[in-house]
Amino acid sequence: MKSFRIILVGCGAMSHIWVDYVQNKKDATIVALVDINEDSARKVAERFKLDVPFFYSVAEAASKTNANLVFNTTIPEVHKEVTLEAFRHHCDVICEKPMATSLDAAKQLVSAAKEYNRFYAIMQNRRYSYSIRSLREQLTKGIIGDQQSIHADFFLAPHFGGFRDAMESPLIIDMAIHTFDQARFISGADAVSVYCHEYNPKGSWYSGAANAYCIFEMSNGSVFTYNGSWCAEGAPTSWDGSWRMIGTKGTVIWDGSDELYYETILPNQGQTFLHEYESRPIEVNKSGNDGHHRSLDDMFLALENGEKAETDCEDNVESMKMVFAAIESAKTGKRVKIK
Ligand SMILES: NC(=O)c1ccc[n+]([C@@H]2O[C@H](COP(=O)([O-])OP(=O)(O)OC[C@H]3O[C@@H](n4cnc5c(N)ncnc54)[C@H](O)[C@@H]3O)[C@@H](O)[C@H]2O)c1
Repeated sequence: MKSFRIILVGCGAMSHIWVDYVQNKKDATIVALVDINEDSARKVAERFKLDVPFFYSVAEAASKTNANLVFNTTIPEVHKEVTLEAFRHHCDVICEKPMATSLDAAKQLVSAAKEYNRFYAIMQNRRYSYSIRSLREQLTKGIIGDQQSIHADFFLAPHFGGFRDAMESPLIIDMAIHTFDQARFISGADAVSVYCHEYNPKGSWYSGAANAYCIFEMSNGSVFTYNGSWCAEGAPTSWDGSWRMIGTKGTVIWDGSDELYYETILPNQGQTFLHEYESRPIEVNKSGNDGHHRSLDDMFLALENGEKAETDCEDNVESMKMVFAAIESAKTGKRVKIK
């Protein structure tokens, strides 16, 4: 059995979930903490009772330990440099989303993973909730027939402070990456083009664009629309978004919780102006882990078996293309081809 000796790079808010996971995994140990801020690392060490050395760089940590895996939970702007440094020091990498802050950087990382022959997977925990997995399973059984369109609304008003407030496109790069990736997962299709309007609304506390509306054409002929705001006070949606999936036989509704249902046309109605529908719940299978933990389960299994994870960088780059094509469309005012 392989054992995993992990350098945790980036000891901020998100890293806690990752450390918690490792502490419940027999074959994995954190062997070093890395951050540009020693205080952040000290807080993580205290909270999780980690008696491990602290370093300011991956290079130093890798040369002073026998690490073989890096958890990259740093801010998006430094994902690329931290990941490349890990590859150079013979470590596999599991990285928080978004993979990078430009498509060029994401593609460069995919090439580097190949060149160094390294495992490189991205955390897309929102495609690992119990409800989205159950939804996808039912859609592949054809409960609403062939897909016509998918619609996601995302309206929240988080006051983070920190790196997001300074980003040019905080909603699209730091959050919509989840929803776009979920749309690919639900539809089983990639995006082929996008038209996007992105802007920063009145009263926004972000310096970049906190709102975006996008229309994607998907490779299976369906359309995915996204309405998003990180600056919408009142009546919030779930962090998973609020979804409507329309097929040739009916519609699925998912509000991001575990309450999913679908409506299909009642049989034998003949020619009527409006059909009557039968409503049925979608049972949510809650076996095993969900979210971050389920994603990490899958990644470690893939690592053990020498396979690629579901959210391997090569797959994830398709979600990244949606992000950067949407930004390009917003800048140029034109529909942007993706494939
Ligand atoms: N998957 C999710 O649901 C989810 C949720 C929140 C955040 N995230 C992602 O997790 C990542 C971290 O977010 P966060 O909220 O924990 O941010 P944070 O600001 O709380 O923590 C980031 C940490 O990285 C450190 N850091 C910055 N530059 C560094 C460098 N060059 N080398 C080493 N450490 C460095 C900072 O000092 C800080 O301790 C981001 O990519 C974010 O998008 C994911």
